[in-house]
Amino acid sequence: MCGIVGVVGRGPASTILLDALKRLEYRGYDSAGIATLEDGSLRRRRTVGKLANLKSRVDSEPLSGRIGIGHTRWATHGRPDETNAHPHMVDGVAIVHNGIIENHRELRNDLKAAGAHFTTETDSEVVAHLVSRERKKGCEPVAAVCKVLPRLQGTFALVFLFEGYENLLIGARKGSPLAVGYGRGEMFLGSDAIALAPLTDIVTYLEDGDLAVVTREQIKFFDVNGDALDRASAKIAISGVAVHKGEHRHFMAKEIHEQPTVVGQTLAQYIQPNGTIRLPRGADVDFSTISRLSIVACGTAFYAGLIAKYWFERYAKLPVEIDMASEFRYREVPFRVGDVALFVSQSGETADTLASLEFAKTHGQGIISVVNVQTSTMARASDVVFPTLAGPEIGVASTKAFTCQLATLMCIAIAAGRCRGVLSAKDEIALVRALADTPGYMARALELEPKVLEIAREVSMAGDALFIGRGTNYPLAMEGALKLKEVTYIHAEGYAAGELKHGPIALIEKDFPVMVIAPSDSTFEKTMSNMQEVMARGGRIILLTDQRGASVAPPSAWSVLVLPDMPQSVAPLALAVPLQLLAYHSAAILGTDVDQPRNLAKSVTVE
Ligand code: AGP
Repeated sequence: MCGIVGVVGRGPASTILLDALKRLEYRGYDSAGIATLEDGSLRRRRTVGKLANLKSRVDSEPLSGRIGIGHTRWATHGRPDETNAHPHMVDGVAIVHNGIIENHRELRNDLKAAGAHFTTETDSEVVAHLVSRERKKGCEPVAAVCKVLPRLQGTFALVFLFEGYENLLIGARKGSPLAVGYGRGEMFLGSDAIALAPLTDIVTYLEDGDLAVVTREQIKFFDVNGDALDRASAKIAISGVAVHKGEHRHFMAKEIHEQPTVVGQTLAQYIQPNGTIRLPRGADVDFSTISRLSIVACGTAFYAGLIAKYWFERYAKLPVEIDMASEFRYREVPFRVGDVALFVSQSGETADTLASLEFAKTHGQGIISVVNVQTSTMARASDVVFPTLAGPEIGVASTKAFTCQLATLMCIAIAAGRCRGVLSAKDEIALVRALADTPGYMARALELEPKVLEIAREVSMAGDALFIGRGTNYPLAMEGALKLKEVTYIHAEGYAAGELKHGPIALIEKDFPVMVIAPSDSTFEKTMSNMQEVMARGGRIILLTDQRGASVAPPSAWSVLVLPDMPQSVAPLALAVPLQLLAYHSAAILGTDVDQPRNLAKSVTVE
């Protein structure tokens, strides 16, 4: 995923562009660039690596001009280097692009056959060539863009800047988000509202197929046929959004510590004063009529869905089919029309998950989603949205969004159980009480941080690590492994504890670190056996359990992290916290780029 911005302003564009790109850097950060119009001529600065490099370049080689575009890149086509960095410029046309032009090869071949000279390895450059060619045929900018867009297959959010047009930007959207922001005598474009937050809180998100013609005085919307469209603007709640780290070194640390608060806020949407669950207005999902629920997501969101599978089966007696989004739509899933598919996503822009959503929709599934960004493509494409109120999650490693997803999914499972007549009022009350106490359990889990830091000093020196658990502790094990590997680059795997003896135990040798996730639940004894198997072979055990578990666990575990005793139903939300802290502190010790780990982006908007 990349971040794109544009400004047609009253003052210097480069300052606004760089500030906005800083807020978008979480979307991708392997290169960056801006372009402005200086006395009507296009000028550009691009650098490889973090945005700080671009800022240094612009400080030493300033760009003037009150209109410009900018881009921060997560490379898809073409190496992450300065040559492939956006903006791309061809004969007076400059563009920035987020997405993938899937037919870029054939377009490139046609253009080269007609004499075009390419300077990059990217798919995006073909767009600049195509629009430039239309301009040379005499088309005005808007007409040139309208001619080109229908030829592009794939996904794009594009912003165009034209030599000689000091009061015109054009935005276009198909499959990748793009918003316009309304200022006073100046207008803005950005990949999301976070980019625009300090500039304006009046925003319109383009719909797929929209074109936005932006001048200092107004913003007009058209389709590619040139027909005017009516797009309402909205006041967004995140103007001036808290995208600072507070007293923390990293966003990831801040977001881990925000969890008791944001999980409480998320639950408050669903828990009624009488101790039952109320789903949002319009969420009239009749769970009593569906025969199966499909749950689809990616990465950490997928692990949240996997935990929820246990809950829907246990509390709603509802069969669940779950798959990662990148696999789901390539299967011959035997859907029953009228069943429901549930999508889980922090960003609501993950391409694999969106593609699976459309796949399920075309097979007659009701579409419900658990999303953190309410203005996202996924939120707009769903029949029913169950919001998580985690707030903006800037750290690439998902933490607070994960536990807010779990909180929301548990509420939905409870509501489904009640709707299906398989969860008694008494049991609902008990579950909701446990949920209401969960922020407190999570706060207690945060108190383990000093102990986790000690463990992190050893783990950060490991080359490999295993995370194991049973039941809902199994998806947690995979999530803990994902956290560790994506921020420390240490190879880690999450495994079902019972599966170890079927092969992976061959990995165990002296001092091999194994995180055993084993609260004193129904799987505890069995997991203790698995822990013994590891210890017998010299493995170093980090046991994550609760007080009851600690009282009976074999004393020879290397380290024991003890959480308060809590109901098995909500334990995953509190158990996640030490796993997140372990990953965070191990990464901080190693000095990796905790908030923007190598090769990653916050939301992967390409398949
Ligand atoms: C989580 O730590 C990762 N950054 C990644 O797996 C993420 O969960 C995944 O890409 C899904 O993103 P989404 O929730 O925005 O759809």
